[in-house]
Amino acid sequence: MNETIRQAKLYDVPALSRIEQDSFDSPWSADEIAKDVTSKDGGIYVAVIESGGETAGYAEMRTVAGEAQIYNIVIDKAFRGRGLGEMLLRHLIDRAKEAGCRLMTLEVRGGNGAAMELYHKLGFREVGRRKGYYAKGGEDAVLMDLMLGEFEITVEV
Ligand SMILES: CC(C)(COP(=O)(O)OP(=O)(O)OC[C@H]1O[C@@H](n2cnc3c(N)ncnc32)[C@H](O)[C@@H]1OP(=O)(O)O)[C@@H](O)C(=O)NCCC(=O)NCCS
Repeated sequence: MNETIRQAKLYDVPALSRIEQDSFDSPWSADEIAKDVTSKDGGIYVAVIESGGETAGYAEMRTVAGEAQIYNIVIDKAFRGRGLGEMLLRHLIDRAKEAGCRLMTLEVRGGNGAAMELYHKLGFREVGRRKGYYAKGGEDAVLMDLMLGEFEITVEV
């Protein structure tokens, strides 16, 4: 299949919202997605992945002060298991590096095996947990990060 990744536009919002509704118990609304897609805050980046001309998924990332935070990554059920989630996450990692970020962070439900596997595959490590964070099901929120570059440590003596 022919895959492309590009910055999301306002006309993508209905398709992104449909994928969101199909994938999450508490999906972001179309308005929330539109707000991020049209944000003038240069730190917010919304990426769309297309496969064979169809919208297959999207991801949101915020970069600030040398850190990139993944807000969301989702692939349409019909397109999962074909490497698209990994492609999209690698794209975000490249973009964050280009933006000079040295650290990428994210938060994931402890029971989300597919996402945890994906993050581990790309080198993320677990750095903390918020116990029973999610009201529904009482699952932990797992905090993960990935080093993107070298940190300079200055020791003053
Ligand atoms: C998580 C998600 C984005 C993965 O997208 P995907 O396109 O299906 O994943 P890929 O095909 O690119 O798989 C890449 C790697 O992820 C892991 N993975 C993907 N699906 C998996 C599954 N069902 N079970 C276990 N590991 C899985 C594997 O490590 C896989 O590598 P491999 O193929 O070499 O084994 C997708 O399952 C999804 O949209 N889930 C719902 C939304 C969600 O939970 N998002 C995360 C919010 S934090």
